[in-house]
Amino acid sequence: MTAPPSAPTPTSPRKRFIIVGLAAALAALIAAAVVLWLQPRPAAVVTQGGAPLAPGLVRLPPGSELGGPFQLIDHNGQSVTDAVYAGKFLLIFFGFTHCPDVCPTELSAMATALDDLGPLAERVQPLLVSIDPARDKPAALKEYVVAFHPRIVGLTGSDEQIAAVAKAYRVYYGKGPVDAEGNYAMDHSAFVYLMGPDGKLRSVFRAGASPEIMAAEMQKQIAR
Ligand code: NI
Repeated sequence: MTAPPSAPTPTSPRKRFIIVGLAAALAALIAAAVVLWLQPRPAAVVTQGGAPLAPGLVRLPPGSELGGPFQLIDHNGQSVTDAVYAGKFLLIFFGFTHCPDVCPTELSAMATALDDLGPLAERVQPLLVSIDPARDKPAALKEYVVAFHPRIVGLTGSDEQIAAVAKAYRVYYGKGPVDAEGNYAMDHSAFVYLMGPDGKLRSVFRAGASPEIMAAEMQKQIAR
């Protein structure tokens, strides 16, 4: 007896095995894609996105968060919190007045960038947070920062207050060896942070970023 012409050709067990295998693999891929698609995505926070990054800027992974509330003492000896600067962009650097090289370079760059910004600089509060509160008392800090720019405010505080703000900004600092005269240097990370008026991180500059790059990035962020 012959099979009717419409009957499907019987598939060999080997061929069937391959088809089932392919179907299973496809189903697994689709399932994986759906699972990935359903993952919560970090809020599109930061600035740079996929755009080419200017040299001197640190590429921030999406959702990067840093900073937050702080309580410190300003260079006039007043107790201040982040609320004092609410609504302003903050250009923040962590350093110390006895720093031989990196801090002066960064503060000069910040000062020049602010001047380059012109009237827009009013929207930005530049801050130096001391990571050497033992020596950086308000008066010394004020004398130091205003020599770079009259608008820079120096912030210091208790060891605990400084430790808390450094932790919030993921700033590393440590005391170097003390010499016979009691002098010492502080080791510290040297990024400059630009925070938005909403308190969110906008940009991070590497040590050595030029004033032109800082000014251009601040202008871009202010215009956003
Ligand atoms: Ni320094």
